[in-house]
Amino acid sequence: MDAFLVEGGIPLQGTVSASGSKNAALPIQAATLLMEGECSLHGLPELRDVQTMRRLLEGLEGSVEAPYELVRQMRASVCVLGPLLARYGRAIVALPGGCVLGPRPIDLHLKGLEALGAEILVEHGLIQAVAPHGLQGCSLDLTGPMGPTVLGTANILMAATLAEGKTVLGGAAQEPEIVELANFLNSCGALISGQGTSRIEIEGVSELHPCEWNLPPDRIEVGTLLLAGAMTGGRLRVNGCRPIEQDCLLQALRATGLEIQSGEDWIELQAGQPLQAHSIQTSAYPGFPTDLQAQWMAFATVCEGTTFIEEKIYPERFVHAEELNRMGAKIQRSGGGALIRGPISLSGAPVMASDLRASAALVLAGLVAEGETVVRRVYHLDRGYEGLEKKLASLGAKVSRILDESGP
Ligand code: EPU
Repeated sequence: MDAFLVEGGIPLQGTVSASGSKNAALPIQAATLLMEGECSLHGLPELRDVQTMRRLLEGLEGSVEAPYELVRQMRASVCVLGPLLARYGRAIVALPGGCVLGPRPIDLHLKGLEALGAEILVEHGLIQAVAPHGLQGCSLDLTGPMGPTVLGTANILMAATLAEGKTVLGGAAQEPEIVELANFLNSCGALISGQGTSRIEIEGVSELHPCEWNLPPDRIEVGTLLLAGAMTGGRLRVNGCRPIEQDCLLQALRATGLEIQSGEDWIELQAGQPLQAHSIQTSAYPGFPTDLQAQWMAFATVCEGTTFIEEKIYPERFVHAEELNRMGAKIQRSGGGALIRGPISLSGAPVMASDLRASAALVLAGLVAEGETVVRRVYHLDRGYEGLEKKLASLGAKVSRILDESGP
């Protein structure tokens, strides 16, 4: 199994380019099921999740069944439910299981599809959906107890493109990845408006056609790189990104005392004076992304003062806190959040990655820790970061991929 060996203490310097967005790619890959023929997707990142979706789509040729073997590897597999149902009137998708982030139900996906006329049966670990009379446009609200759902919105959006009549989707997720999906579908002939707001309207069409599409940059990768530059006291430029989508993060970074400049597609950051603690609360877009919460926690260990992190999307997404404490951090869980006291001089240690973003947080911590850090189980990281060790090394960091022979 692969691990990362990180030697801390080097300020990152230089320029790096963003890779294509994982979370934009996955629903767009699934959306290709809605049409006959081949789409050309440019800038797909080389990631394990993207490969898993590719394998899933290849396996679906001539079938409407997404097997547990693939769904358990990647929850985003559930994105094929809406397109299969809309195109073939039938779908069988294994029910995703437990997740280290805490409960991740899919009740809203099912509620939305039922509102469009699907009959759904969940048994024996399978979601079996049929639409004997095709899908019908309707008005529905997808707001859940935790707010909007990103992939739930994606699923309903995709299904409604081929439904009969008009669908008005309230409580829609406003994430840039949803806007990207809607724009992609429109260029395939769909009639979608309102994307980027909480109310999306979809006028059903009888068929879609393939198109060529360029994937947008990965805003979570960009945020992770910026935090790496900031916490190592470096000077960093990220090219090929969309600063407008990083507004909340950039404001939070500025509040710690960092100097940040940006243009249309680049962000430059320079660390100078000591960084001041700045508390954050995660929330749906345009709020602070939950997918940068773990990395912000690692960053907070080098800031002066106490940072409070409140997690509003996945209240149990804090597994990384204990691993950071093994490196000397002073993090305490408190209610739906965590308190981080800084600045702390972290010390290198063997640590265990538990999920994608937690892994990234441990790598960031390793970059400032004294001595060597071995981050084990980086297969989690490979799900969503394209060559992170190479990008960091190109900025001067001492990070390398090693074979971890100490067991699973
Ligand atoms: N929720 C429900 N019912 C549902 C669906 C969601 O109650 O049917 C709740 C969830 O439990 C959660 C909240 O709604 O509390 C938001 O979950 P959401 O459905 O938006 O998450 P998702 O669509 O499954 C995507 C990203 C995640 C990211 C979340 C939130 C992809 C492939 N995944 O997941 O990304 O954390 O949105 O922004 O786009 C990651 O990349 O590391 C990652 C986990």
